[in-house]
Formats: sequence, structure tokens, C-alpha cells
Amino acid sequence: MTDIPALDKLLKYKLINEEDLQKRVKELAAVINEDYAGEELLLICILRGGVMFMTDLMRHLTVPNAIDFMSVSSYGVGARESTGTVRITLDLRTDIKDKNVILVEDIVDSGNTVKSVVDMLEMRDPKSVKICSLLDKIDRRTADVKIDYIGFQIPDEFVFGYGLDIDEYYRNLPYIGVANPDVFIMPE
Ligand code: PRP
Repeated sequence: MTDIPALDKLLKYKLINEEDLQKRVKELAAVINEDYAGEELLLICILRGGVMFMTDLMRHLTVPNAIDFMSVSSYGVGARESTGTVRITLDLRTDIKDKNVILVEDIVDSGNTVKSVVDMLEMRDPKSVKICSLLDKIDRRTADVKIDYIGFQIPDEFVFGYGLDIDEYYRNLPYIGVANPDVFIMPE
């Protein structure tokens, strides 16, 4: 059995409920449909946090789209802070040359991850690369990066659910919650 805290103790409050999340995801998809009218799209999910968001987002896309996945390691084991060094641990199967790419993320924090991934993807000559992130922790940004599609700007709290984990658990929650710091000690 895991020693992960029980949800009723861990959850300080719900930051974004399921209804608001789904409404916003639909709105983002509508904007993307408009921006890419007449074009095709490749959605790239950066594992693992972006999975829930991407699968919900793509349900509302009407522009022809394909998906692929990447995994990068940016944080030290158990660490909360990005180290700034991003390494690809699982690469795409798709050749992105001349393709319209949207990187789909659950959260942009320092911005190191998306900045490094975009830089790496640009070297493969895509037609375009944009970033779509459900959450934007703008106060913590250190990298110079523009997020093209943002679901919600959020305060600097430890959030989880809807793809975001607490020690790999609770990614399945349909809402975004704020973790109670008395219950969950955040790794530094
Ligand atoms: C999270 C998130 C982003 C990154 C954002 O991933 O999904 O990829 O951190 O942080 P940054 O803007 O400071 O780079 P994490 O490494 O926690 O992996 P996970 O998605 O598998 O949970």
C-alpha cells in the first residue's frame, strides 16, 4: 500500500472545478480550430502531466489532427524546481518537418521545459510551433517563452489533479486542487 495522503486531508481547496475546466478546454479548442482553419495539426503531449488535457482538447478539434508524445526529464528526482537542463527521454515517432505543431502541457512554471523543447523541435524544420498550456504559473517564470494558448493563470500554489500528480498519484482527478502544505511536504 502507498503512504500517499488521503484526498480529504490533502485537498486544501478546489482551484478549478470540473465544469470550469471543461468549459475552458472547449473554448481553447474553438480558438485553435479558427487559427488553423484549412490546415492540419500535430499535437505533441509532453508526458505525463499533459495527457488528460490533450485527450479532452482533441475531442473538440475539428481541424484534421494527429498526436504524438514526448518525454523529457527536467527535474531532479523528487525535486520541485526545474534544473534548467532538459533531456529527451522518449522522442517522437513523427517527422515534424513542414508540420504545424502544438506542444500541449498541463502547466508552465519556470518555462524551462517548453522553452527547451521548442528549441529542440525548431531544429527539425516544422512549419510552425506553438505552445498550449492548461495552467500558467506566471509568477514563477524565468525562461523567456511565449505561451500561445493558456487555459488559466494560477497563483504559486502546489496544484494537483487533471494530469498533475502528487508523488505520481491523483492525476486522475477531474478537477485542479491545491495541496494542503501541512499534509504534503513539497520536495525542494
Ligand atoms: C511538469 C509539467 C511541465 C514542467 C513545467 O512536468 O508537466 O512539463 O513540469 O515546469 P517548468 O516550466 O518549470 O519547466 P514534471 O517534470 O513534473 O513531469 P510530469 O508531467 O510527468 O508530472
